[in-house]
Amino acid sequence: MPPGASVVVIRPADRLTGTLHVPGDKSVSHRYALLAALADGVSRISGYAPGADCAATLECLQALGVIVRRKAGASIEISGRGPRRLEQPTAPLDARNSGTTMRLLSGVLSAHAMEATIAGDASLSRRPMRRIIEPLTLMGARIRASEGDRPPLRISAPAAGVLSGIDYELPVASAQVKSAILLAGLQADGTTIVREQVATRDHTERALRTFGVDLDLAGGRISLRGGQRPHACDLMVPGDSSSAAFFGVAAAAVRGSEVTIAGVGMNPSRTAWLDVLQRAGARIEREVNEEFAGEPSGSITVRYAKLGAVRVEAAEVPSLIDELPALGALATHGGEIHVSGASELRSKESDRITAFVAGLRALGADAEELPDGFIVRGSRRLAGGTADAAGDHRLAMAFAIAALGAREPCTITGAEAVAVSYPGFFTALEGLRG
Ligand code: S3P
Repeated sequence: MPPGASVVVIRPADRLTGTLHVPGDKSVSHRYALLAALADGVSRISGYAPGADCAATLECLQALGVIVRRKAGASIEISGRGPRRLEQPTAPLDARNSGTTMRLLSGVLSAHAMEATIAGDASLSRRPMRRIIEPLTLMGARIRASEGDRPPLRISAPAAGVLSGIDYELPVASAQVKSAILLAGLQADGTTIVREQVATRDHTERALRTFGVDLDLAGGRISLRGGQRPHACDLMVPGDSSSAAFFGVAAAAVRGSEVTIAGVGMNPSRTAWLDVLQRAGARIEREVNEEFAGEPSGSITVRYAKLGAVRVEAAEVPSLIDELPALGALATHGGEIHVSGASELRSKESDRITAFVAGLRALGADAEELPDGFIVRGSRRLAGGTADAAGDHRLAMAFAIAALGAREPCTITGAEAVAVSYPGFFTALEGLRG
């Protein structure tokens, strides 16, 4: 086993019950940290995501001269330097496994008068970057990728000294691309307009407003005037809806279960997985009881029910892209899921179509790979076996949820990947056993 690798064995479950809190939202945490670094003043962020991805963002910011203080619990304080005031780093920045760090930070750094390299681990080094290089270059950024459009990215000062706003229609439905452009646009001359045909998560838009940045939003068009100065604020990150999805699915799938996830983000651009769960027949109660910094949060209770067949098609995919492995795991317990229009899954931390179907099959599932998705049929109970997480946190968690319904204990190799978004995942899952 490579150093740091771990193997986890998941026993079949009789039922799952209880209430839990999941760690802070990964997407929201990245955005709060980056905007806090570009703001004037000291921002306090509680509930900052504990995973390796969000730690990578903080480490990159520290290497750019930002002072980050870790407080008790999951709280941090960031002393902002103001727009275009980050410091020249003395070594390549390491985004580790985090696509969000690399893409959003590229937007931030493109506007700076510096030379910076952003590198990542083997998985991130395989992920496509043309999607950000193209729009940022149109704004006047100078970015060189390594092979074709792959990391590491070498970013130099803008050719004209300063970026210019663009009017850009996203060719891929990607919140990361949208956010990279908006973070560059904030530090550019003129107005930046981003148009999206299909809505993607809107945490950046909400966060910009919270930091005092004026933004026009209308029917898939986001317009931002460059040169505005974000101001520091006090923030609270809600629980991560994508992490909650694993427990929601587990509760829906395992006979006799009832699980409540409290304090979880309820941003409508992230809750489509609940709609799919409901279409599959799950019994769900959801309640929004708080809103902080423009992000609603609340609680979700899911109870076991007999599952039916569901389809997920292209239009819905961007709003549940990260939850597709969890929803695929659901169908190993009964019913069926047919996912199409999701070829983006092949560009995630792993090829989340090939690696997911391979892992499910290794556990005995009736699963089929499609060019742009997968089919999982709950036609038979899983026999058990060994599934490889392929270095992908969401696959490690999805295999664990599938394993709950197997006849025999299942082994997950590469289980340490959960640390990317949810270091305490396996302990939390064990805590729900009745
Ligand atoms: C994210 C957006 C999604 C998602 C990723 C986090 C974000 O990626 O898969 O885990 O924080 O903006 P894309 O926007 O590239 O689809």
